[in-house]
Amino acid sequence: MMERLFPNPALLSATALEQEVLAPPPENSRTGRPWVGFNFISSIDGAASMDGLSGQLGNAWDLRVFSLLRQNADVILVGAQTIRAEGYGGELLSKAAQQWRHDHWMQPHPPLAIVSGSLNLYPDLEVFRQAPHRPLILTLESAPQERRDKLSKVAELVMVGGESLEPELVISELARRGLPNIHCEGGPTLLGTFAAAGLVDELNLTISPLLVGGSAGRIANSPNTGADASAPDAPAGMSLVRILKADSMLFLRYVRGTD
Ligand SMILES: NC(=O)c1ccc[n+]([C@@H]2O[C@H](COP(=O)([O-])OP(=O)(O)OC[C@H]3O[C@@H](n4cnc5c(N)ncnc54)[C@H](OP(=O)(O)O)[C@@H]3O)[C@@H](O)[C@H]2O)c1
Repeated sequence: MMERLFPNPALLSATALEQEVLAPPPENSRTGRPWVGFNFISSIDGAASMDGLSGQLGNAWDLRVFSLLRQNADVILVGAQTIRAEGYGGELLSKAAQQWRHDHWMQPHPPLAIVSGSLNLYPDLEVFRQAPHRPLILTLESAPQERRDKLSKVAELVMVGGESLEPELVISELARRGLPNIHCEGGPTLLGTFAAAGLVDELNLTISPLLVGGSAGRIANSPNTGADASAPDAPAGMSLVRILKADSMLFLRYVRGTD
């Protein structure tokens, strides 16, 4: 059974969990601007993947929360390496979730937006061939023209920087397309980029009760610009606004805060 530990401790039925996670963030309605939420899972010793994938860190509870978090997104934003590692082909929502969106005046399936500086993506990947909507690729002016030509046949290419990615442009280009509620599923380079720019509004973090060991990276790292070149001047404070628990797995929700 899923429990809410904070605030207002309670056991949550499946319906109550759905209502809890699908409720629009109250902090979002106060800001009146686009909202960037990330969702990650980490082992208790800080690994963001096992054998190069994140799936083995999770369980059925995590999958449920993961699915609910993407259910009310305007757009699902993902870094290219996560696409290369995890696939992302086909429909990303269940039929029930698509019906819920339809009932809430949303298009049944949120578009996928992929961040890639190099455009090192094959046009025949399932993520393009089986996409319910033509995906967006957020890329740089410096990307090779030949790759731009090939990928523009299967996706809409959007420029979000010259030589390096400008996270503010990612947000404004998505908002301009009527997609202000941005749900980002990683990976670590993308979170590192947005964190360095101080543009993370929300972080949903699942703590999986595993000691993974090894050398797996953590949930945020800097892009390839040198050790801490893109680290922010000071760590950004986040406020813990919800704790859910199922078995030994914790689901933490942090929002940009002043704590
Ligand atoms: N634990 C979790 O919740 C979780 C979530 C997601 C992914 N993961 C895992 O994380 C691993 C992938 O990590 P990652 O950090 O490489 O993934 P990533 O952030 O998904 O992808 C990195 C790639 O995205 C593009 N990109 C991201 N930020 C960029 C920037 N600032 N400037 C230019 N391009 C940028 C680049 O694509 P190009 O190379 O095409 O230029 C870059 O190589 C996988 O093992 C995956 O399973 C774990």
